[in-house]
Amino acid sequence: MHIDILTVLPELLESPLGHSIMKRAQDKGHLTVQVHQLRKWAVNAYGQVDDYQYGGGAGMVMMCEPLVAAIEELQKERTYDAVIYMTPDGERLEQRTANRLSLKENLLIICGHYKGIDQRVRDHFVTHEISIGDYVLSGGELAAAVLVDAIGRLLPGVLNDETSALTDSFQDNLLAPPVYTRPAEFRDWKVPDILLSGDPKKVEDWRHEQALKRTQERRPDLLQ
Ligand code: ADE
Repeated sequence: MHIDILTVLPELLESPLGHSIMKRAQDKGHLTVQVHQLRKWAVNAYGQVDDYQYGGGAGMVMMCEPLVAAIEELQKERTYDAVIYMTPDGERLEQRTANRLSLKENLLIICGHYKGIDQRVRDHFVTHEISIGDYVLSGGELAAAVLVDAIGRLLPGVLNDETSALTDSFQDNLLAPPVYTRPAEFRDWKVPDILLSGDPKKVEDWRHEQALKRTQERRPDLLQ
């Protein structure tokens, strides 16, 4: 998969995407991410990419010209399966959104700032609008990093058996069960006997039961 990201703050994306599993995904060639400084397509030598909003009011709006020039230049290189705008008024990011997007080949992600981007870019270029939750961040970069991480770890070959996404919370609409590691007894807190039983069927049943219990307690909405 290839992902292009348009932003005025490329630095904000370097660290989250440059470590751990996202780094490995890129090193192994499963994922390429190119972060583009939007100011490269600025309307003047000052690097301007935003302007006052029509109708008045506080807050700047990211202009059509730089965004459209950037998108159209990138579109000459490749055809995008989705042009995604990160915005708090978008559709909430869920595991199923990440699953679906992980099947695509080329994604373009636009990070907004200030009051957001000119509506005409949303109307004519954006195919998906995604929010990572009901709160407002100061820009779309951290949201984009969350989205790329959620998608990137699902790409075939990125996770090994130990980190397999199949046992993640949400993958089957259940939260993940509790997990334990050595020692089997710490202070007087013991690991549940079943996990030490060596009986894979019993362990699997216990995990399913615990996953159900946890989901019932914490996220009953997932079971409906
Ligand atoms: N940009 C600002 N806030 C955001 C959010 N909650 N989700 C996605 N993009 C955003």
